[in-house]
Amino acid sequence: MTVIVTGGAGFIGSNFIFYMLGKYPGYRIVCLDKLTYAGNLSTLAPVMGDERFRFVKADICSREDVDRLFAEEKPDIVVNFAAESHVDRSIEDPGVFLNTNIIGTQTLMDACRKHGIKRYHQVSTDEVYGDLPLDRPDLFFTEETPLHTSSPYSASKAAADLLVLAYHRTYGLPVTISRCSNNYGPYHFPEKLIPLVIANALNDKPLPVYGKGENVRDWLYVEDHCRAIDLVIHNGREGEVYNIGGHNEMRNIDIVRMICKELGKPESLITYVTDRKGHDLRYAIDPTKIHRELGWLPGTRFADGIKKTVKWYLDNREWWETIISGEYMDYYEKMYGNNEI
Ligand code: NAD
Ligand code: TYD
Repeated sequence: MTVIVTGGAGFIGSNFIFYMLGKYPGYRIVCLDKLTYAGNLSTLAPVMGDERFRFVKADICSREDVDRLFAEEKPDIVVNFAAESHVDRSIEDPGVFLNTNIIGTQTLMDACRKHGIKRYHQVSTDEVYGDLPLDRPDLFFTEETPLHTSSPYSASKAAADLLVLAYHRTYGLPVTISRCSNNYGPYHFPEKLIPLVIANALNDKPLPVYGKGENVRDWLYVEDHCRAIDLVIHNGREGEVYNIGGHNEMRNIDIVRMICKELGKPESLITYVTDRKGHDLRYAIDPTKIHRELGWLPGTRFADGIKKTVKWYLDNREWWETIISGEYMDYYEKMYGNNEI
């Protein structure tokens, strides 16, 4: 079995590669990644010498490169993680999101049609459903919830999902889609809430909380997401969407306080900053379908997962310190400089 994993030098893709190489000794895993600011080859260092693994630097929007790789590797399964993934960046500059997230998806699926595959899997997000009100804890996203996006990021992901379903209906491409809630864990790029707060707290820097910190996200440990995708690509039904989430809703401010406590840092580091434009209030997944059809349940409780994550950032300082010393500093200054309220 040969699996092409796009975006495998990023957060979830790299965790998925480690998971798959560990679980399936007979599989060949080929990572295709453009190595944007969010991709780190150093993350994949532990598997670079593995003869079952190959890394190829390429853009999923390049028909030529994608076609050549498919001709060489003849993949059975393609799992598309490659994306521009940060909401705040999409608000600043939507263009690259539309290109990578939509055109890149089309390019990959055209190669799948041309070369024939057993499964194309699109890694999507719960953000395609928009948000839920804070005062209706009885409401959850199911696979039938209408798509109702808020940010250029989520709009580009929803557009890609519709295209994936169109390729299934029109061309009979064997596709599946998974829509997961917010992930956390090792190798999470420190522009996202949890790793940013851990890195800043370790450096005794202000911890920026948007608005009042009351927005709610449904957090899932990254390995649980990887296990769910493994189940969907092997046992999920073609043409189906599967929501992934572990009923772990938390307010941003409570997450930040928990990290302060875990690191023994004072809450006085918390700094309220200008709210994100169009900021989604609450995400909450109903994972009934994937549980019922594929037997998936989350394995890591948040209290344990956040401890493991904090420990990983303490043990792997070099990984994130290298990142935050580079062009990330310019981004940080632009987004957070003089932004205190
Ligand atoms: P990430 O930003 O950490 O990694 C994205 C990877 O894609 C990087 O390695 C980058 O180099 C690569 N990439 C970007 N543009 C590319 C292109 N044009 N061609 C080839 N490679 C390219 O993202 P992540 O957090 O690991 O998210 C992975 C996927 O999971 C995304 O599709 C995202 O929408 C989805 N998702 C993420 C979360 C989350 O909480 N992070 C939750 C649900 C779904
Ligand atoms: P993020 O990690 O960017 O994920 P997403 O926007 O995809 O859910 O943000 C998680 C939540 O944390 C979101 O409500 C925005 C908020 N947030 C902050 O309060 N401060 C920050 O510095 C960042 C990056 C996010």
